[in-house]
Amino acid sequence: MSDTELRQRLEELRQELRFHNYQYHVLDEPIISDYEYDQLLLELRQIEEQHPEWITPDSPTQRTGAPPADKFEKVRHPSPILSLSNAFVAEDVYAWLERIAKVDERALEADFVVEPKLDGLSVVLHYRDGVFVQGATRGDGEIGEDITGNLRTIRALPLRVPVTDDTSSSVPHPPSYLVVRGEAFIRLPDFEELNCKQEAAGEKTYVNPRNTAAGALRQLDSSLTAQRPLTLLVYQIVAWQDDLSTPSPSGPPATQYETIAYLRALGFPTPESTYCANLDEAIAAHHAWEERRQELDFEIDGMVIKINDHQLFADLGVVGKDPRGAVAFKFPAEEVTTQLLDIGVNVGRTGVLTPYAVLDPVEVGGVVVRQATLHNFDYIFEKDIRVGDRVRVKRAGDVIPYVIGVVEAARTGQEQPYTPPATCPDCDQPVERIEGEVAWYCVNAACPAQLVRNIEHFVSRGAMDIVGLGVRIVKQLVEEGLVSDVADLYTLERSALLSLEGFAEKKADNLLEAIAVSKGQPLSRLLTALGVRGVGEVVATDLAGRYPDLEALAAASVEGLESIEGIGPNIAHAIVDWFQRPANQGVLRKLRQAGVWPTAEIIETQHAASLPLNGLTFVVTGTLPGFTRQQAKEFIQTHGGKVTGSVSKKTDYLVAGEKAGSKLSRAEELGVSVIGEDELREMAR
Ligand code: IVH
Repeated sequence: MSDTELRQRLEELRQELRFHNYQYHVLDEPIISDYEYDQLLLELRQIEEQHPEWITPDSPTQRTGAPPADKFEKVRHPSPILSLSNAFVAEDVYAWLERIAKVDERALEADFVVEPKLDGLSVVLHYRDGVFVQGATRGDGEIGEDITGNLRTIRALPLRVPVTDDTSSSVPHPPSYLVVRGEAFIRLPDFEELNCKQEAAGEKTYVNPRNTAAGALRQLDSSLTAQRPLTLLVYQIVAWQDDLSTPSPSGPPATQYETIAYLRALGFPTPESTYCANLDEAIAAHHAWEERRQELDFEIDGMVIKINDHQLFADLGVVGKDPRGAVAFKFPAEEVTTQLLDIGVNVGRTGVLTPYAVLDPVEVGGVVVRQATLHNFDYIFEKDIRVGDRVRVKRAGDVIPYVIGVVEAARTGQEQPYTPPATCPDCDQPVERIEGEVAWYCVNAACPAQLVRNIEHFVSRGAMDIVGLGVRIVKQLVEEGLVSDVADLYTLERSALLSLEGFAEKKADNLLEAIAVSKGQPLSRLLTALGVRGVGEVVATDLAGRYPDLEALAAASVEGLESIEGIGPNIAHAIVDWFQRPANQGVLRKLRQAGVWPTAEIIETQHAASLPLNGLTFVVTGTLPGFTRQQAKEFIQTHGGKVTGSVSKKTDYLVAGEKAGSKLSRAEELGVSVIGEDELREMAR
């Protein structure tokens, strides 16, 4: 290729990558697979390696790789980065309007925009000729810290605006200098996934999304920031300057509603904004959002009500650091205080000991909370949490409630500092701390608590799905010595079950039947069920696609495993290690003898094309009457369909059951067909 052609290809690749990045991270509607994206990026990297002089700061290759810094430089904001005053009930909001109307009575006639108040960190982003050149924290509102390298790693942040090269009039041309403000944060599902990974790697879990986002943005080494799933929403124009030689056709938007539309048209991720003709409508919008709050995949602590007209907003002025023209109308706290009655310790499947708080029962966000997580023993010491303390407890979305800290002012002197147990609370064997890890472990392989957790996991819905084998029965089986590993489930005798308390004939027969049925579960499920560190449903499915049975997998090498996409050295070692352990080999022998030995069903491509759901993409949500979510997924897959996790334009059908939440609204928005279980079964005939 000539240099001219190469240059052209480079521009094409950048444009395409920008577009796909935007589809994925801003619109949540990916058009190509991650693999295809990586291929494009690789090609671009190769061209840039040949021609380093062509690298520009807005190239999609420049998201990572900033050299680690030893401190953050200071950045003066072009205009003050203001805060907000709070309102807690509707009366406060009416009082706010009355107050500001005394300063400028036009406020009484004003219209408003209502936006979610995101619980993250304020960031200030500078663009020159549409290129992202600098980003800063809020700091004291006047001066912030330069975190450009860290911000670049946020994939939702456009390195260049407009994102598309579309020259049609619908895409605005930015001024030569544009500074915007937004909020960086972590979505709840991404936060949970991050913590699952930490846990699987035996590392410390993060306490909450906000602190994790704050910590990530303040890393001096941006390669660490890149590993945290940060995202961004942009809602304000802080500075707008035009080079007189190339005047842009218009000045900045005159209202907040238009500002959001303008930022969105440039390709910035923006919050959903609601236009309200008067304050009553704004308060109604706040209530409507409050209803949706539990369904959202990010944390918000209220709604921001803003005077729509920018001129009036500016004329109203500022009190201290709070503009008069906006108010944060908070939601009732999801945070409460209560007494810490005791600290208990759970023993996990891998023997890890996790402390939890036993609380004086308290209502948080409509749910009575009796227990909350304390993460790990270090956390208890860092926060100096003592038994008897008044503690602050938070619950958000589906995240397990957790103790945030102590109300020190409420101490009486009677509180007891906590000492972690020296022995396992279940088997009484000494506990150990593994070098380099925060967790303490019970290393007794025969610990009954671990066995109970292992079996609970083995029989769970996403694994072997043995219906009717709840934790109470698992405990009974372990305590009575009827099972000493998961394979023993398959040799349980009817008479032995009948000797257990609470077991009548029908119950015993049903359980034996459910156990027998589980022998037919596919290899991927058995693999998930075995509970190898790092092997969840996704990795198990990948492994089952590669190895025909457990014998073949047991013979796999670390290198062979690592060659599978999505399997890194940690998981590869964990798998090899698991299969080498004599106790596990014994379990496998027993499973095989009992006939629990699935082989991978690799569907032939030719056959696949003739399946009824071939070529269709589904998303499953809500509670279906006759399927668990996993069963519905497998049903679709065995009939040739594809199942993905989120609704996009590429989704053909959303299979929705009862209590379908945000996915249903998303499907309706995008015009994706929504079907029920019966229609799905009908289509698969
Ligand atoms: S507007 C003049 N809008 O809340 C503009 N702030 O408690 C003042 N925040 O420091 C801010 N979401 O970090 C605004 N949609 C939103 C917001 C928002 C979150 C944060 C922001 C601010 C804090 C004030």
